[in-house]
Amino acid sequence: MKEYIINGGRALDGTVEIRGAKNSILPLLAGSILTDEITVLHNCPNISDVDSMIKILEGLGSKIIRNARDIVIDNSMANKSEIPAYLAKELRSSIFLLGSLLSRNKKAKVAYPGGCDIGLRPIDIHIAGLRELGIEIQEQGGYIFCNCQNAKCADVVLDLPSVGATENLMMSSVFIKGRTVIRNCAKEPEIVDLQRFLNAMGAKIKGAGTSVIVVEGVEKLHGVEYTPIPDRIVAGTYLIATAMCGGNVELINVNPEHISSLISKLSKTTCKVHIKNDRILIKSKGRQKSLDCIETMYYPGFPTDLQSQIMAMQTVSRGTSVIVENIFETRFKTAGELKKLGADITIKGRVAVVKGVKELIGGEVHASDLRGGASLVLAGLVAGGQTVVKDIYHIDRGYEDMSVDLLKLGANIKRT
Ligand code: EPZ
Repeated sequence: MKEYIINGGRALDGTVEIRGAKNSILPLLAGSILTDEITVLHNCPNISDVDSMIKILEGLGSKIIRNARDIVIDNSMANKSEIPAYLAKELRSSIFLLGSLLSRNKKAKVAYPGGCDIGLRPIDIHIAGLRELGIEIQEQGGYIFCNCQNAKCADVVLDLPSVGATENLMMSSVFIKGRTVIRNCAKEPEIVDLQRFLNAMGAKIKGAGTSVIVVEGVEKLHGVEYTPIPDRIVAGTYLIATAMCGGNVELINVNPEHISSLISKLSKTTCKVHIKNDRILIKSKGRQKSLDCIETMYYPGFPTDLQSQIMAMQTVSRGTSVIVENIFETRFKTAGELKKLGADITIKGRVAVVKGVKELIGGEVHASDLRGGASLVLAGLVAGGQTVVKDIYHIDRGYEDMSVDLLKLGANIKRT
């Protein structure tokens, strides 16, 4: 199995180019099956979640060509409407295909989705919303059978602002005659990106980025060439890495507004963060004063996908930090691995108390989910001695080989 071997203690200097956002590209790939014409996505990172989604689309009959970071999708032959368990369990985003498959084939059979082991991750809000649209749904033997012969536009209220459920309902209603209103929507930038993408294909959707999205049904959608938004979580990960290690790092191709909550936290440390259009420059002298309290919230609050990384930063900050994880019930698993490196973390339910230590000591740790794995790499970058991060296939789901960017920044890291 692949692993990262890191010798910590080096500052980071240089530039990192941020690629398209994983959590945008995945729903855009699902949305591509809403047309038989060619769809092209640019600046897509080589990450395994995109590979898995492409495998699912090919299983439906799509023809997909990848060259460098462009993905060309031809769905004209995609005539299947079933996603088998061995593919669906690969990633959470298989559930996004429910909506687009229904819009394309009027029926769908999808196995329960997989994804990072960070909580129960039910799909009750997806199902309730689809039923509001008159879609018949049966859950049987680990599969969800859907039929949308009697689908009708509706005014749907989500019990909570689920990103995936919002995206699924947008894609399920694009062809439903009349006006569908989705309330209590997620407001993440990836939702706005999906609206922009579908409208570029000829859909009539407005309101993404607010809690109310309105979808006017249209007859059909056409092909499109599209560049997804930059990955705000990858960008945030490198900002936190630099804040911890010290140094001067410039991120290229970022949207600072998408990580304003992190930038505001970093501005409370001795880091200097300069923003210039689609670039962010961070200067840090290393070990920071602890951040008093970090609470993960729905966008535009502090993102749950940066919680593990900011926790790694707090383990070597001066003082004590309280981290509250409000979105996923078991997203503190990585704390146990950080403690193997000498971190002082006490977990009480959704609250983690992190007492900063002078330094972490290198050791062997195991990644158990995507963002937790990234946080272990960050810890290894500041730990004294050698850190070995194992099971890095979790990290490869959402980061192009981290060692390539980090080596360019001067880190001592090797991928075996
Ligand atoms: C998306 O997951 C992202 N994944 C996650 O990123 C991200 O952490 C999450 O949104 C929150 O921002 C993709 O976009 C592929 P949710 P999603 O539905 O859609 C509960 C990463 O590291 N819920 O907004 O699955 C759920 O349990 C990944 O890149 C229900 O109860 O998240 C959670 O507590 C990890 N019932 C909360 O809502 C439902 O039917 C938010 O989940 C759906 C969700």
